[in-house]
Amino acid sequence: MTTQPIVREFEADLRVVSAVEAATDVVTLTLAAADGSALPPWTPGAHIDLVLGDDLVRQYSLCGSPADADRWRIGVLRTPDSRGGSKAVHAELGEGATVRVRGPRNHFPMVASPRYLFLAGGIGITPMLPMIAEAEASGADWRLVYGGRSRASMAFLDELAAYGDRVTLLPQDEAGLPDLDALLGVPQPDTLVYTCGPSGLLDAVEARCSSWPAGSLHLERFAPRAASGEDEDTAFELVLQRSGLTLTVPADRSVFEVCKAAGVSVVGSCLEGVCGTCETEVVDGDVDHRDSVLNEEEKESNEFMMICVSRCRSDRLTLDL
Ligand code: FES
Repeated sequence: MTTQPIVREFEADLRVVSAVEAATDVVTLTLAAADGSALPPWTPGAHIDLVLGDDLVRQYSLCGSPADADRWRIGVLRTPDSRGGSKAVHAELGEGATVRVRGPRNHFPMVASPRYLFLAGGIGITPMLPMIAEAEASGADWRLVYGGRSRASMAFLDELAAYGDRVTLLPQDEAGLPDLDALLGVPQPDTLVYTCGPSGLLDAVEARCSSWPAGSLHLERFAPRAASGEDEDTAFELVLQRSGLTLTVPADRSVFEVCKAAGVSVVGSCLEGVCGTCETEVVDGDVDHRDSVLNEEEKESNEFMMICVSRCRSDRLTLDL
């Protein structure tokens, strides 16, 4: 897959240097090491984990500049999240607070292209900010279409104003929804589409881009893709090649859970197939990919799988663990 492995093992308590209201229900946090030391490098599209409590880990895109080596910026939308991740960020992470951070990781990397179409919905603007800065710096031809409920709910409008008419703002209460047929109905040559936002937008963009050349569409989800006709959960044998173990994954447990119970070192975060932390190399087996990270080509290549949600259609799955 195209993942860019960036210092995965970094984990530290970072200080909230500033917490600023960027739009209605959106706060931007700037994080830094307590001693001001440099943080791991990252590239546009990367995200970090905030560890907000026991079993409460949330992913947020880095939206500052990779050139700022000693600080990271994220934007967090307050949502009616069942487990309260974003509420905890808004309520507890004021200036001077400390938060456990892991990462960064990048499952949404920029691929070099002469032309980009960026489509952002709501807080999905965050990974786009460093991307458009890079596109601009590289001299690429690019355009951003940014939709939101209303102008007041759309963060970073002041920063985007510097890009002039490359940016189209579509507050829904003034301009309605983006016209995806006009934007994507005809595949554009040498153009890559990058999109992030609510599932409805991503599903609609994905459907429109099905007629585009393979590899044109790049998207990032922060909520699991809706299940669509997945196979029934069945038991299968799990061979861990490096550990020399053969285990059974019953129908009601995940590969991740079975590995963990057997004392095998596996790392997970979201445990719902969206963050990419548990990505594992596949040696053999017909993987039933159920994650929201890998694209279709990556799934077909059968090289990697997200062991927190994906399963196996064949009787045996062999992993490089
Ligand atoms: Fe997030 Fe598996 S732990 S994708």
